[in-house]
Amino acid sequence: MAVRVGVLGATGAVGQRLIQLLDPHPEFEIAALTASEDSAGKTYRQAAKWRVDSPIPDDVADITVSATDPAAVPDDVDLLFSSLPSSVGADVEPAFCEAGYVVSSNSSNARMADDVPLVIPEVNAEHLDLLEVQRDERGWDGALVKNPNCSTITFVPTLAALAEYGLETVHVATLQAVSGAGYDGVSSMEIIDNAIPHIGGEEDKLETESRKLLGEFDGAELSHDEVTVSASCNRIPTIDGHLENVWVETEEELSAAKAAEEMAAYPSIDLRSSPDQLIHVFDAPDRPQPRLDRTLGDGMAVAAGGLQETPDGLQYNCLAHNTIRGAAGASVLNGELLLENGYL
Ligand SMILES: NC(=O)c1ccc[n+]([C@@H]2O[C@H](COP(=O)([O-])OP(=O)(O)OC[C@H]3O[C@@H](n4cnc5c(N)ncnc54)[C@H](OP(=O)(O)O)[C@@H]3O)[C@@H](O)[C@H]2O)c1
Repeated sequence: MAVRVGVLGATGAVGQRLIQLLDPHPEFEIAALTASEDSAGKTYRQAAKWRVDSPIPDDVADITVSATDPAAVPDDVDLLFSSLPSSVGADVEPAFCEAGYVVSSNSSNARMADDVPLVIPEVNAEHLDLLEVQRDERGWDGALVKNPNCSTITFVPTLAALAEYGLETVHVATLQAVSGAGYDGVSSMEIIDNAIPHIGGEEDKLETESRKLLGEFDGAELSHDEVTVSASCNRIPTIDGHLENVWVETEEELSAAKAAEEMAAYPSIDLRSSPDQLIHVFDAPDRPQPRLDRTLGDGMAVAAGGLQETPDGLQYNCLAHNTIRGAAGASVLNGELLLENGYL
């Protein structure tokens, strides 16, 4: 029987992607949708300005949107996918967990909390067991798991593939699509014919979340990896797909050819939404490109290319679909991991 799920923030950019991925999902059945007070009481069709590249599912369109409040969500819903603004998530996600719901969240609040697992299943699935610590400490029947920021998800799998060579220093410059800011995020007058070399708070997320993801969990505590990560984030006028330029220094010598081999061989995980090949490595130096490569693996793969040796180490480029791999798909994959590991 499918698990009954809900979406918090269902009308937004990530919420709509979640609906698109969850509607055909055989393990999950959409049973509740929430948004702001402005949308509550309307049907989903009325409340959501549908902008995803497939029709709004009929059965979902007729669901009445509720307020984002535990009292408004049916008790028989077991799993909630959250795509709320982080300021809202910070208040309401703990209330849902306390009320017994398991929450798989995209929002940035609490990602760095010591007892909240931050998970990319192909990279650090074992961190999910931090939920035992969380439940002990907070006394929750529910649970809170996070996926990282969209630009963190793009480059961390490539680092994980190289970790055995000893990661010392990483520099990353991002070229991020406008959908990463949500529908109301960047005005067309700001971004057309332009690039904006600042995204508030984003650099810090890449620098800290990557170290948590690459850290080790000993069953009681999570230690963060010691690699130094420095990031610079730029908004560019693409719709979807974050492209990133990465420079890596490793303790052990690592050639570009060997790094390409390690990335291509990096294993995926046996979950429905995980792609068979996690990292696609291009030989062509001008790939990956957002328009051409963001839908690899149904938008759940990471692409890498342009691997070359530098005087200090390696340089390469990587790309992932920010609202699928970087947000909604990441959250659904964490939902599958929660199910697989008996947390639902
Ligand atoms: N876009 C991306 O690529 C991406 C990637 C990774 C993570 N994220 C994170 O995912 C979250 C959602 O991003 P988004 O781009 O989907 O944002 P968005 O398009 O602005 O959507 C926000 C959603 O939250 C709801 N909401 C707003 N204020 C609320 C309130 N006070 N109470 C309850 N619901 C409220 C909105 O409902 P109404 O329609 O009723 O206003 C809408 O459903 C953010 O935390 C963002 O940082 C986004």
